Amino acid sequence: MTPTDLLPARLTDEEATLALGEALGKSALAGGVIALVGDLGAGKTTLTQGVMRGLGYSGEVTSPTFSLVQEYQGGRLAVFHFDFYRVEHEHELTELGWDDYLEREGLVVVEWPGLHPDLLPPETVWIELSHYEGGRRADLINPPR
Ligand SMILES: Nc1ncnc2c1ncn2[C@@H]1O[C@H](COP(=O)(O)OP(=O)(O)OP(=O)(O)O)[C@@H](O)[C@H]1O
Ligand SMILES: [Mg+2]
Repeated sequence: MTPTDLLPARLTDEEATLALGEALGKSALAGGVIALVGDLGAGKTTLTQGVMRGLGYSGEVTSPTFSLVQEYQGGRLAVFHFDFYRVEHEHELTELGWDDYLEREGLVVVEWPGLHPDLLPPETVWIELSHYEGGRRADLINPPR
């Protein structure tokens, strides 16, 4: 199963968002990068919670808005969950070790990647979540460059 098999998807309720994330998590490979585009409340963290479920991780998953990055260990892959929402300058991320996170054998997930798109490597899977008919939809998109 690849993202192309799973998307586009109509997500009628929160559980559908979790299930899509779960499928993405099950098929995720070490070194992968997932960029989650979408407005406030679009479902980026919910999708990430599903990814963690698919990786067999049972801990808490919230937007790392203030810490910028949250590391989850214990699932099939380590996950480095970033939120660029409050990042004003790219150097804040490079100082935090962005390049090292990309080199580690884990999965990188980024909320608000469109604020600093140049940091995302070419192999990044870009997914856009949007409000749609009372629920959400998810689409594969091109990098916003
Ligand atoms: N498919 C869906 N249909 C309806 N509600 C959903 C769906 N998916 C997620 N939600 C709900 O949307 C709300 C916001 O979701 P979430 O926190 O994941 O958004 P977010 O994109 O991470 O927002 P932020 O930009 O603030 O971090 C949650 O209450 C969640 O349950
Ligand atoms: Mg969020």
